[in-house]
Amino acid sequence: MSGYDDRDGKIWMDDQLVDWRDANVHILTHALHYASSVFEGERLYDGKIFLSRKHSERLLKSGEMMDMPIPYTVDEIEAAKRAVVEANGLTNAYVRVVAWRGAGEDMGVSSARNPVRMAVAAWAWGDYYGDAKMQGAKLDIAKWKRPSPETIPTAAKAAGLYMICTMSKHAAEAKGCSDALFMDYRGYVAEATGANVFFVKDGEVHTPLPDAILNGLTRQTVIGMLKDRGIAVHERHIMPEELEGFEQCWLTGSAAEVTPVGQIGEHTFEVGALTREIAESYEKLVRS
Ligand SMILES: Cc1ncc(COP(=O)(O)O)c(C=O)c1O
Repeated sequence: MSGYDDRDGKIWMDDQLVDWRDANVHILTHALHYASSVFEGERLYDGKIFLSRKHSERLLKSGEMMDMPIPYTVDEIEAAKRAVVEANGLTNAYVRVVAWRGAGEDMGVSSARNPVRMAVAAWAWGDYYGDAKMQGAKLDIAKWKRPSPETIPTAAKAAGLYMICTMSKHAAEAKGCSDALFMDYRGYVAEATGANVFFVKDGEVHTPLPDAILNGLTRQTVIGMLKDRGIAVHERHIMPEELEGFEQCWLTGSAAEVTPVGQIGEHTFEVGALTREIAESYEKLVRS
């Protein structure tokens, strides 16, 4: 299989559709050295990006939080995504929008004089966790902690927040797991490396408060689906000791969709009726 830099197709970059292999940046790009980059991961279902505008709005907010104003409006980002989908003839795909500080007059930490650039790429992408969708994913517990909002803008979908995600996911995969679950800086259950987490006990649902994690759009959608069904959802601080008592568990994310979890560390969960119902309903919702 060829690399992601070696494919046919078009990528939108700074207002233009360019050939896939020509969507390159200079080695002195600020983002490459100092993580001045924010991004979105979205899915196109039957020709329509689920919650497309909300993703574009979050991208602009992430840029603001990083003191990196993105020189495009939501409408312009939407048009760029449409152009990419059309140019590549896609109907079901993953869409990646990324904005970053480019190369320019500055090469130190300060970067106000460098342009903020944006690109959109899209490609066909199956289930994020492979066959875990059916059996339940196995998660490791990360040795790293999600940081305090006083140390980094945790509400931004920013590249710098993913450094420990890559390290934790590598460690998890080396143990035969699909992903890793983080605790946060206070020791509370937080999120996986690219997804939020939900638990079920006695017919009620528990999920971490989004005060040090990404408040995922899928998380918010799933909370709405549960509430519509009259199911109590407790957004609260969850201690790792509580994992033992939870019966079911699933992850949510634009890439992960609703993925059942069968195991976290030593704790096992059943892929139960509520997990299956929410996963199936989410699949219907994104295509409705
Ligand atoms: C760290 C992290 N948490 C949660 C999520 C879920 O967010 P969303 O549902 O908006 O895709 C993601 C994926 O974007 C993520 O990377």
